Amino acid sequence: SGNITFTIIKPDAVSKNYTEAIFEKIEKAGFEVLKRKDVCLTKELAENFYEIHKGQPFFAGLVEFMTSGPIVVAALKKGNAVEDFRATIGKTNPLEAAEGTIRKVYGEMVSRNAIHGSDSDENAQREIRFFFTPEEVEF
Ligand code: CMP
Repeated sequence: SGNITFTIIKPDAVSKNYTEAIFEKIEKAGFEVLKRKDVCLTKELAENFYEIHKGQPFFAGLVEFMTSGPIVVAALKKGNAVEDFRATIGKTNPLEAAEGTIRKVYGEMVSRNAIHGSDSDENAQREIRFFFTPEEVEF
């Protein structure tokens, strides 16, 4: 698999000032932060970003949560990036995530799980294009 993945530090973690601690953990796990920026999602952008979850019972709550405050988005580089990053953040539900993973340490519950990681190389590219201009990601 590829060398690039994408992450979002979600509003719960940003509002609790966990952002820098989370990036330290990401870098300690061997990822290079190629580009990061602060973003505020509108309802329309959040609905578009999470369109694959449209129709799920948690969709409205997910959009509400992701627009509730600032987020930090970043492109990350490491060999086997997508798979290794998913191992670093842990399972979607923090209560099921392994000890020491970012979601275990900083997440509260499935709907407030501190961080996003792309689930495939294709989605990593889509998500980076969604948040960054081509000029911002001339790595
Ligand atoms: P993530 O995989 O980053 O992006 C989709 C999000 O939807 C997921 O994190 C969870 O935060 C949320 N989600 C997934 N399943 C549920 C669920 N059953 N209830 C509430 N939120 C969920």
